[in-house]
Amino acid sequence: MGKLKLLIDTDPGVDDALAILMAHRHADVVALSIATGNVRLAHTVGNALKLIETIGAQTPVFAGCATPLVLAAADAAFVHGADGFGDTGYLPSTRQAESEHAAQAILRLSHAHAGELVFVAMAPLTNLALALKLDATLPQRIARLVIMGGAVTGCGNTHRVPAEFNIGFDPEAAHVVFSTWPHFTLVDWEATLRHGVAFETMERWLAADNPQAHFFAAISRRTREWTRTRGRPRLMVADALAMAVALQPDIVTRAEDHHVAVELTGTLTRGATVVDWENRFGNAANAHIVMEVDQVRFEALVASALGAG
Ligand code: BDR
Ligand code: CA
Repeated sequence: MGKLKLLIDTDPGVDDALAILMAHRHADVVALSIATGNVRLAHTVGNALKLIETIGAQTPVFAGCATPLVLAAADAAFVHGADGFGDTGYLPSTRQAESEHAAQAILRLSHAHAGELVFVAMAPLTNLALALKLDATLPQRIARLVIMGGAVTGCGNTHRVPAEFNIGFDPEAAHVVFSTWPHFTLVDWEATLRHGVAFETMERWLAADNPQAHFFAAISRRTREWTRTRGRPRLMVADALAMAVALQPDIVTRAEDHHVAVELTGTLTRGATVVDWENRFGNAANAHIVMEVDQVRFEALVASALGAG
């Protein structure tokens, strides 16, 4: 069997970087489409180009939307650094993004690799929503969609308590995707909390002597310190968890299928993912919600991406 083909929508971002390293270690990455989210687009594009250059890959990078679909939103620079990569002052890549818009690239690649692509969405869903609005037949050509987003019982990570960052940053985009994509896998923030990586384990991996480990050690330093000082017991790497599920679906040890909708208007709850746990509305389940994964296998995927496994 050939390697898995991935199309990754991402807003690098520290945990995005780890997921991208995993993807390049274990699959064929057809392209990175870049979103605004953790930080603004100029940084997320620059970070993607730098990471790809660092690992010596030739993956094309497509810049997407510079803003959410409707309303402006606060970024996550306080977690990832002002540049999204821990403010290390790295020398920018000499490479350029492709001239095609990310949404158009997603559609073109979905035709070129019809039925083969696993789409991994690790950012606000702006680019994917736009692609869907341009062509509603897109889901027919994507083998699987894995979304990192949401907080299925309301334990989110934004200033609106029940909202998780990727959904809370662009709720309208999430609504477009959740209300039209027939069935996707959802790796939410609460699963991320259950599947953190011990700081000491990560530090051991980061001592490996290779470009991936050196680069990730540098860009993640700030986020690791910030997470520790907040009293978190482990490092959360949301996008890496979603990537593990994309790479190895059988890593999931417990999941539930339910209908999930996105709250757009609540004062306290805009961006919340509302799960119909008891199927009260009789809607077909659109989400395969990941509840637990095999932690040993997850950590093995991360370690090998850092050249430490
Ligand atoms: C998600 O938000 C971002 O900060 C991370 O990169 C991840 O995609 C977690 O809520
Ligand atoms: Ca991300």
